[in-house]
Amino acid sequence: MKKSLGPKAIVYPTPVFVIGSYDNFGKPNLMTASWGGICCSHPPSITVSLRKNRLTYSSILERKAFTVNIPSEIHVNESDFFGITSGKETDKFAAAKLTPIKAQHVDAPFVKEFPLVLECRLTQTVEIGVHTQFIGEIIDTKAETSVLNEKGIPDIKKVRPFLFAPEGRGYYSIGRFIGLAFSIGKRFMCWLFNHVFLNLNSLFIVIGMLTLPLQT
Ligand SMILES: Cc1cc2nc3c(=O)[nH]c(=O)nc-3n(C[C@H](O)[C@H](O)[C@H](O)COP(=O)(O)O)c2cc1C
Repeated sequence: MKKSLGPKAIVYPTPVFVIGSYDNFGKPNLMTASWGGICCSHPPSITVSLRKNRLTYSSILERKAFTVNIPSEIHVNESDFFGITSGKETDKFAAAKLTPIKAQHVDAPFVKEFPLVLECRLTQTVEIGVHTQFIGEIIDTKAETSVLNEKGIPDIKKVRPFLFAPEGRGYYSIGRFIGLAFSIGKRFMCWLFNHVFLNLNSLFIVIGMLTLPLQT
């Protein structure tokens, strides 16, 4: 039995992104954002939704650029800090003792110490309600070589990202591997095939039996 909880923004999992941008004075700033995710494959694009009172909101509009920094578990305290203080009052990079690096392709800073960084160019904004959705085209992805696997792509076990569960306000580490996507579901395709095939077979037998008098 299910109980109705009303319209709530609960979904599992939500990411912990750390958004990098420059403010009006060129000061690098960071903010935590969990309302976001990949929103297009070609052009590769990502979305984050921000309230208008965030410093990051005006910074992104001004420079038409931002970075999405993926923190590892070891930076959970810093990541939380970026979500509870505003760059309007605090130099968050300095307070957290992290290093801002100017992005190569867009006018925004990224966090040197974080393993994975997306450099994004603002392409669209969508007014939704209290949040405005920012859509950024991913111009480049930078990964620490230490988190790459033998094929040269980031390995989630090495990146060690963590998740945010909004209802209880908890941070969680990722769990164990449970299956290969676009693959483990194929067993049901076989079932479907057998099912359709067997049903068609039965249908032909019935048709054959019914039309037997006509055939002889
Ligand atoms: C886990 C977590 C997730 C957050 N997600 C968002 C979000 O998606 N959008 C948003 O506008 N604020 C979000 N916040 C709040 C901002 O990070 C916070 O208001 C921050 O101080 C804004 O920084 P700024 O003023 O320097 O831009 C989140 C905070 C935390 C702790």
